[in-house]
Amino acid sequence: AFIVGDNCIKCKYTDCVAVCPVDAFFEGPNFLAIDPVICIDCSLCEPECPANAIFQEDAVPEDQIEFIELNAELAHNWPVITEVKPAPADADKWNGVPNKLALLQR
Ligand code: SF4
Ligand code: F3S
Repeated sequence: AFIVGDNCIKCKYTDCVAVCPVDAFFEGPNFLAIDPVICIDCSLCEPECPANAIFQEDAVPEDQIEFIELNAELAHNWPVITEVKPAPADADKWNGVPNKLALLQR
């Protein structure tokens, strides 16, 4: 499966959901999560993310390994999202800021 990593937090551009053929994205207040059971590893979402926040689970950066389990957990708690919506007004300001996990809203 693919997973969403740290840089999505507070960026949440949602371009990724437009290309997912199986509706694997789930929406929280300031982050999206992929349900690894639904994801069919098509890889279409990865290049769509302006924040480069999507990784194949075998290629997740070492410091974001915990996002693998976090995606599975959050995807089960949140509603599905299938349509692109406007990013937060300050998304570009947060794009590239490292280690935003403490800012994740559930
Ligand atoms: Fe959806 Fe494909 Fe991305 Fe998995 S890899 S979340 S199936 S677009
Ligand atoms: Fe997040 Fe990138 Fe999608 S910022 S909402 S994973 S396009």
